[in-house]
Amino acid sequence: MRHVIAVIAVLVALTGVASAQSATAGAKVFADQKCSLCHSIAGKGNPKGSLDSVGSTLSGEDIRKWITEAPEMAAKAKAERKPAMKPFASLSKGDLDALVAYLQTLKKS
Ligand code: HEC
Repeated sequence: MRHVIAVIAVLVALTGVASAQSATAGAKVFADQKCSLCHSIAGKGNPKGSLDSVGSTLSGEDIRKWITEAPEMAAKAKAERKPAMKPFASLSKGDLDALVAYLQTLKKS
């Protein structure tokens, strides 16, 4: 039983490290894709589109859809800010996963 607990503890620790790494990679994707032209995080970027609490207000799935299907999500959310967001359809799956993981860490308490 001790062994099982130890193995589980190690797995949990490793998953934590993996998601922290992808969040860091996601911050880089955010910068590379120039999301900050229209969005801000922690006071950096366009203040009209703060994403500081997006991890509390949207599910990972919805964040992903915003990135890949922005026009559909904007229609659903009745978002009217201009310029509208275009879909970022050419991101690799790895970059997209990392970007979503990063945005999910943005929570206001
Ligand atoms: C040309 C401007 C523009 C760019 C560039 C842009 N967005 Fe957006 N985005 C918007 C607009 C407009 C909305 C609608 C909501 C609003 O008014 O902030 C939006 C909404 C979102 C939302 C939903 C926010 C919410 O609170 O519901 C997310 C998440 C998002 N964008 C992520 C991104 C990411 C990640 C990138 C870079 C890959 C990006 N956006 C690039 C304009 C942009």
